[in-house]
Parts: sequence; C-alpha cells; structure tokens
Amino acid sequence: MDQKQDHTNQILAQLETTESLSSLDVAKSLAINHQELVGYLLQLESANYIKTEGLKQDYLQLTEEGNTILNSQSGEYEIYQKVPNEGISMAELQKLFGIEQIVKVKQEQGDKKEKQVEDPKKKQFDLGFGNAKKMGYIKMDKGIISKVGNDLPDKIKQELQQFNNIKLGSAQAKLLIDRKLAMISTIKYFDIKKGNKYAPKFREQLASLTTEQLLNGDWKNCDYKSINLKAEGEKISMGNLHPLLKVRKQFSQILIGLGFEEMPTNQFVESSFWNFDALFQPQKHPARDAHDTFFCSDPEYSEEVDTQLRDKVKIMHQTGGVGSIGYQYEWSHEEARKNILRTHTTAVSSKMLYRIAQQYKEKGYFPKKYFSIDKVFRNETLDATHLAEFHQIEGVVVDKNASLGQLMGIIREFFRQIGINKLWFKPTYNPYTEPSMEIYGYHPVLKKKVEIGNSGVFRPEMLAPLGLPEDVNVIAWGLGLERPTMIYYDIRDIRTMVGPEVKVETVRSNPFCVFESK
Ligand code: PHE
Repeated sequence: MDQKQDHTNQILAQLETTESLSSLDVAKSLAINHQELVGYLLQLESANYIKTEGLKQDYLQLTEEGNTILNSQSGEYEIYQKVPNEGISMAELQKLFGIEQIVKVKQEQGDKKEKQVEDPKKKQFDLGFGNAKKMGYIKMDKGIISKVGNDLPDKIKQELQQFNNIKLGSAQAKLLIDRKLAMISTIKYFDIKKGNKYAPKFREQLASLTTEQLLNGDWKNCDYKSINLKAEGEKISMGNLHPLLKVRKQFSQILIGLGFEEMPTNQFVESSFWNFDALFQPQKHPARDAHDTFFCSDPEYSEEVDTQLRDKVKIMHQTGGVGSIGYQYEWSHEEARKNILRTHTTAVSSKMLYRIAQQYKEKGYFPKKYFSIDKVFRNETLDATHLAEFHQIEGVVVDKNASLGQLMGIIREFFRQIGINKLWFKPTYNPYTEPSMEIYGYHPVLKKKVEIGNSGVFRPEMLAPLGLPEDVNVIAWGLGLERPTMIYYDIRDIRTMVGPEVKVETVRSNPFCVFESK
C-alpha cells in the first residue's frame, strides 16, 4: 500500500470511533502538513466517504523577533549580562555593544560631502536599555549603570518558552503582542464527519468500466467514480464563420427556398465587356472612369469574346436596334477588352444570360431564376460605411411573363423573410434597365428610410445582342450584403467588421444570425 493510501485509511480509521475530527488535529497526528492533508480530504469527500465543513480559527503565532529571542536571549537580558558588577558608564556600555558614537557615510555615490548619522545599532540598544530598566535588571545613578540583582533569569525568554500554553486574549498574550513578539493569525481548517459512503477502508474509485472487469467479474469488487453529467466538454478550437459569411449563407438559403439557383461567381477579374459593354453601358459612362473602377495592369487585356457577340454589342452601342438609336458614338474594341475588378455582380448575370440564350437555341425556351452573392470592387474613399470591396446579392428572373409587379413581389418576399416589411420603390436610371427602381427599407436602428438596393427590367438593347428572344423578359435586382450584416450584428463601423481591426473573439462568439420574418 502506498503512503498516500496509508494516510487516507488512517483518516478513515480515526473517524471510525468519533463523531467529528478537526483537520488540524489529524494533520498533527499524521505528521504531515495541513495542505497535504487537504488533498486527501478532497479525494475522500468526492467519493462521499467523508463530509467536511470549512472553519476558521484565530491563533497566537510568534513573530520573527519572538523566535529569535526564543532561540537566544532577549535584548534587555543581553544588556543586563554585559553590565559588570562594579557598574559602567553609558559610553563604555555602548562601546561593549560595538556602537560608534558618530558614523559618517557618503550621501550618495560620487558625492564628496559626508553626512553624520546615528549608528543603526543604537536604536536597538536604546530599546533594550529601556526594557532592562523597566524589568528591573539595571538602574542608573549619577551616570553609572549598575546591576540590580545577581543571576536574574531572562523573564521574556522564559515566557516564550511557555508560549504554547498562553491563551489568546490573556494578559500574557497581550504583552507579547504589544512587544511585537507575537501576533494573531487566522487558520482555515475543516471539521470532518462521516459521509454517506463511509467505510473504514478506502476502495480505489475507478474511472471506467472495462471489458476485462466485466468478463472476470472484478467489477463486483470495485467502486466507480460517479459521472458528472453537467461537466462541460473541452472547447474545441476551430475556425469560425465571419458575420458576413453567416448572413451570406442565410440569404442564399432564402433564395434557394424561393427557387433560385446560384450562378458561378468565382472570378474577381472581369473584362470591361461583361461588366459594362454587354450591359449597354456606354464607354464614356462616368462609372467606367478609373475613379470608380480598378483597372488591371497585368494582364491588361482580356481574351477575345465571341466576335459575333462583340459585333452585335458594338452595333447596339453605335447605332442601336430593337427600336433604339443607340448612343451614337465610335465603340472601341480595345476599351471593351480592358481587364478590371468587377464593379457589380451584374457582370456575372450578363454572362449567364448569354449562356441561357445559347441554350435556348439548342433546347428551346424555359424560365430560369438565378442568384449570386459575392465580392465586387469600387475605388471608394474608405470611411465608416464604405470599403473598396464589398458584397452584392443579385437575383435574375428570366421569364416570358416576368413583369415589374413580379419583381416587386419577389423583392418584398425576400425582405419579408429577413424581417423587413416596410419597403419603398423609387424610379431611377440605370443604363441596362428600364424601368429602374431604387429600393428603400426602414432602418430599425437609425429609424429612417435607407437605400438598400437597386432593380429593374433589363432593356432590349442589352438582351437582344446576347441572343435572347424578344418575347423573353428579364427582371433583376442587386443589394449589398454589408449593410444588413452591420444592422443585425450591431456593427457601427465597417472597418471593425472587415480588415485588420476585426476582433477575432467577436467572430468566435457572435451568434449565427437568425432573421425573423414577421
Ligand atoms: N448592378 C446594380 C448596382 O450595382 C444593381 C442592379 C442589379 C440594378 C440588377 C438593376 C438590376 O447597383
């Protein structure tokens, strides 16, 4: 049996014949320190062999000075012993104690001036001298110090030798405390009683039941630790979704629920052709300026698009078609080939519409609903609500019956599902939609209308060159992802949501956003 188990059993044995034990007494009887005993008590208590109650007790403890006296002698007694029988002058007595009358020290290092100070030993001497007189060891007469009696005992030391019998609160205790030879300390200890699983011998508590124990029947002789069903598992450290990604996921689930399919958006660099030209956006349009658009330098130009498509787009810009006169300018092929970071997800939609038009040629007409959610880039001045990159959510419905009313209906349904019921539509202008509508929603924190999106019916000037049949309508809308995310996570400055100021801890702890539809 190891020492530890030995101690555990000794504690249990002591408890067998008595109602309760003080941990102080137990530690003394086992000759171990109290801290060590507490370890055994914890083990016994968790197995319900014992119950403990924490208690406190004040006790008298020797100070460092008290201990020194106990191990040698008191200051007054030392003086008493040094005084010769025939008497001595103060100066001579002090000399016997090695006290110099004046000690000179340099004030500071490198300081030439010296300062006179009292020998530090003198203070101690004066204290002892005063006590020696008070205790009646010595007297002073006309400058001569002499002993009062012969072979007197060191009373203070004698008292300290009786220290263990001195009661807290007694006059003796008070004297020792006054003389700073003893002080009151508090000890924390335990009252130990039998627990409901008490037994005089401790049986090791096993943490798990094994196949062997079941097979050989050992389990009958073993005790098992009870299982703490409330214990929390260890936190697993793993990646966490950024708030934008959480909202993005919710939005895509809503759109999928409304029957939309996701478009491939895995391309940040796009040619001006798909971002602007295919959308009937003239080459002189201010949005195509380097102030608003990031142009790429390497590679500066994109691959050639289908030349037939290119020529159709060129003619539509220059002279028009489908009842339009176009923009009446010289369309530049080179300008259309310039690579840029896409400025809106409508670049993805235009490419998708071209693909659908081609499928129509092979398979005939079918209606389609698409969405995309991804990053776009604009050369913005950074502030609390703007970054040079952000996300757009875009929806496109290709349907012969698609109408402005249907567009408003879908937008209302989408916002209803994220808890926004108050919506307003305002006519606006887009080069690629007619009619066009800005979407406004009620901001629950700012308590006012804010612009939340843009929408419209794609123009025939855009759809015809892409190859879509004239009787097919396409309605579409685009929204930002950042604004609703900031509202739902109560983020006031976009720079604390995206970029180096993001606090990883908030990303870890913020909830998976659940929009409430009303
Ligand atoms: N592309 C527009 C924007 O970036 C949004 C939009 C999409 C408008 C589709 C109409 C139709 O603001």
